[in-house]
Amino acid sequence: MMSTLRNVALWLERRLHLTKLWGQTAGHPVPASTGSWFYTFGSMTLTCFAIQIVTGIFLAMAYTPSAAESYHSLELLNYSIPLGWVLRGIHFWGSTCMVIVMMLHMTQVFLWGAYKYPRELTWMTGCVLLFVTLGLAFSGQVMRFDTDAYWGVGIGASVAGRIPIIGQAIVQILLGGPIIGTDALSRFFSLHVFILPGALLAFVSVHLRLVLGKGINEQPKPGVLVKRATYDKHYSEIIKREGVPFVPAAINKDIVANGILILVIVGLALFVGPNGPGTPANPTIEIADAKPDTPFLWLFALAALLPNGSEPWLFFVFPTVASLLLFLLPFITNEGEKHWRRRPVAVAIVVLSYLGVGLLTYEAMTGPWSPHMDAWSGLPIKAEYIKERAPVELQGAVVFQEMQCRNCHAIAGEGGHRGPDLTRVATRMTNPQLVRQVIQGGGNMPAYGRNLSPEQVRALVAYLCSLHPANVPPAREAVGVLKPIGESQPTPSPTPGKEVTSNQ
Ligand code: HEC
Repeated sequence: MMSTLRNVALWLERRLHLTKLWGQTAGHPVPASTGSWFYTFGSMTLTCFAIQIVTGIFLAMAYTPSAAESYHSLELLNYSIPLGWVLRGIHFWGSTCMVIVMMLHMTQVFLWGAYKYPRELTWMTGCVLLFVTLGLAFSGQVMRFDTDAYWGVGIGASVAGRIPIIGQAIVQILLGGPIIGTDALSRFFSLHVFILPGALLAFVSVHLRLVLGKGINEQPKPGVLVKRATYDKHYSEIIKREGVPFVPAAINKDIVANGILILVIVGLALFVGPNGPGTPANPTIEIADAKPDTPFLWLFALAALLPNGSEPWLFFVFPTVASLLLFLLPFITNEGEKHWRRRPVAVAIVVLSYLGVGLLTYEAMTGPWSPHMDAWSGLPIKAEYIKERAPVELQGAVVFQEMQCRNCHAIAGEGGHRGPDLTRVATRMTNPQLVRQVIQGGGNMPAYGRNLSPEQVRALVAYLCSLHPANVPPAREAVGVLKPIGESQPTPSPTPGKEVTSNQ
């Protein structure tokens, strides 16, 4: 028995040369000093990718990429298919973690000077992997096809549409037509499950091939400079002196780090759960809480905070220049010092980037223009605020609920804070002022004139007029009479004291 097995193994070995393959890959020698926690982020990114492939395959079995069905198929996954919600959770958190550990990996490579000679191409393929991964994260959020996804695609398409000359063609290819519907979704689907993962696999192979071929960057020492003429000899001396096989000598910390990573992802999936789907995409609802997933939040904040007219800079000039700089970095500083202690500019770049992205992400989560949702807009209005209302007022409350006004307006503290709290709105605004505010919007509030019938407006305003404390009467038109003669009637102006910004 044993000898048969041995013969089979030998037969296979003679054809596949597995020992040699092992020696060149898992067993290849690395500098002993690289068995460090800082060197674990690369393998963690790879683990995330593997998790995404496995969970993605199972998700694709249940998911229907059609505008009419996708939402339902996600709800099935969330509520009916056994463990479907866990699968969605792992896929979502796996994606978030993948972006995070990939950024950490890049930061480490940057600070350790690993992109310098002779690892330029390793860095450049890494940059491609960065863009493809971000593409996967973006197209993945489109798969939810909820409000966030809908507006995400909308904004992405209008950005792409402004690219000179080819913009319109790109939009046509991406959306498959003038509207965001099934054509767009199935395009993003094939992008998300075939094109981008395929590209990622291909580039990961090249990336790993380069890592094996050029060796893992040794721990840099301050004062030891990289020179094109001498580095290769220097590296082979290091390997001769302290080289150890990656497996088993240097892999321990990778195993631990990856184990923790998997626990974190599964833990987040189990205890925080999958993301959405949020409210179903509905183009007739002016939505206020549409927000991209975490990796893109900082861009969202930047777009909202920058002055009007800066979009071409934000969406074309800045990304083009930044990606080119990133991509060509190994040729900008190809030789010299690798240790971060001797590279203040590199350290400053890293600190400033993290601070910038961190602050912008924080802004995007808390800024007043980004509705911070205390209540999901579907949460019913508190009974107190609908009791003893006339039928028309109750109808108005329903419109208020359905149009998701509470994404921006709180009632009794529940709801968004982008617009004023409406708990006592009737004490400061009269019926005509309210009608005008609803129909025309203004001051960062969308105009609802086209999306509401006159009856709906009448009911809605009737309801708003009922929002005042029992002991405080509602505002009445009569206030205008108190004005000196000759002055016009009070214009139904939006609340004073709020500047009108145009960064909608
Ligand atoms: C995109 C977020 C957003 C949505 C959605 C929104 N509003 Fe507003 N709303 C605002 C903002 C911002 C203001 C303040 C306007 C200003 O400062 O001129 C405002 C002002 C108001 C005011 C005046 C309040 C006051 O005290 O000055 C009323 C009334 C109002 N909105 C009603 C509604 C109703 C009804 C809906 C749903 C049909 C709605 N809003 C949906 C953002 C929104």
